[in-house]
Amino acid sequence: MHIAIVGATGAVGREILSLLEQRGVPAEELTLLASVRSAGREVAYGDTKLQILELSDASFRGTDLALFSAGSDISQAFAGTAQDAGAVVIDNSSAFRLHHGVPLVVPEVNPDDIRDHHGLIANPNCSTIILVLAVWPIHRVNPVRRIVVSTYQAISGAGAAAMEELRGQTRDVLEGRPVQPRALPHRSAFNLFSHDSPVGQDGYNQEERKMAEETRKMFHDPAILVSATCVRVPVLRVHSESIHLSCERPITDTHAREILAGAPGVKVVDDRCGNVFPMPVDASGQDDVLVGRIRRDASDPSGRGIAMFVCGDQLRKGAALNTIQIADLLSG
Ligand SMILES: NC(=O)c1ccc[n+]([C@@H]2O[C@H](COP(=O)([O-])OP(=O)(O)OC[C@H]3O[C@@H](n4cnc5c(N)ncnc54)[C@H](OP(=O)(O)O)[C@@H]3O)[C@@H](O)[C@H]2O)c1
Repeated sequence: MHIAIVGATGAVGREILSLLEQRGVPAEELTLLASVRSAGREVAYGDTKLQILELSDASFRGTDLALFSAGSDISQAFAGTAQDAGAVVIDNSSAFRLHHGVPLVVPEVNPDDIRDHHGLIANPNCSTIILVLAVWPIHRVNPVRRIVVSTYQAISGAGAAAMEELRGQTRDVLEGRPVQPRALPHRSAFNLFSHDSPVGQDGYNQEERKMAEETRKMFHDPAILVSATCVRVPVLRVHSESIHLSCERPITDTHAREILAGAPGVKVVDDRCGNVFPMPVDASGQDDVLVGRIRRDASDPSGRGIAMFVCGDQLRKGAALNTIQIADLLSG
C-alpha cells in the first residue's frame, strides 16, 4: 500500500503523518507532497527523514491511497489525477462533500456508505464530525428532529499559519506590541469572532451551512433541522460545541447519558458534583470526543429536549484520525 499525503506540511497533514508513524507505517510507503514553497524540506519520521516533494500531475504514479488536505482548489485540481493514476482519494476539503456519488463518512455513524464510493471519499467538516459523534447515538434511539448548536472553534481549524499567528499575537499583546492579523481577518489573541467563512443572503456563514447540510447527508435525513452559530476562540486546538437537541419522543437526561456512555468515539465527562466537564485541554490529542453537561433542555416543556457540551480534537478526530479510519474501512 503506497500512500501519498497532499498538504503534508499543513496542520492536518502533519497530524496524519504522526498517526501513520504511531501505526508503524514504513517510510518507504509514503510520498509527502506540498507546494513549491516547501519542496525539498525534510520532516522527521520515526528515526528517518522524509523529503517534501512538489505536487504535480506525476505525483501519484504507483500510489494506492491519496490523502488530500491542501484546500478545495488543490483537491479540485488534483483528485481526478490521483484517481486516474489508480489511487483511491480521501479528501479533507469541502470540494466534493455534497456531491452525489461521493460518500461523506464518519465511521462511527455511516460506515456502510463507503461501499458506494467511486474512487473518492470525503471527510466531513471538522465541526460536523464532532457534532454528529455526540448526536448520532441519540438519533438512532430517538430520532432527532432539530439541532441548535453554537461552536467555540480552535484557531488551528484555520491551518498552521493561524496557529503561529495566535502564538505570536499572544506574545505581542502581553508585551505591549501592536497586533496585525494576517492569517485570519481579526485579532485572535484575547478575542473571539464570528467564523471567518463567507456569509450568505440568509445570514448564515459557510461553516454553519456545512454543519447543517453534511449532518443531513450523513444521517440520510433531509428533514432534520439544524441552526448553527460558529465562532472562533483563542484556543490552539480542539473545537467545543454547545448543543441543544429536540427528539421525536420525550427523553430523559439519564437515558441520554446512558446512550452516550456506550457510544463509540465518545467519552462521557459529566461530573456535576465536582463541576468537571469537557475542556479543550483534556480533549487535545485524544481520539474520543468528550461529552458532558448532559441535561434536560429547560426551554422545551415537552420533555423532548436535551442539552450538552462537547469538546473534540478537530485536527485528530475532526480530520486526520477520521481519514485514517476511512482508510481502515477501505482495506478491511
Ligand atoms: N485545520 C483543521 O482543523 C481542518 C479540519 C478538517 C479539515 N480541514 C481541511 O483540510 C485542508 C487543510 O487544512 P490545514 O488546516 O491543514 O491547512 P494548512 O495548515 O494551511 O496546510 C495547507 C497545506 O496545503 C499545502 N498547499 C497549499 N497550497 C498548495 C499548492 N498549491 N500545492 C500543493 N500543496 C499546497 C501546504 O503546503 P506548503 O507548506 O507548501 O504551503 C500545506 O501543506 C483544508 O481543506 C481544510 O479545510 C482542516
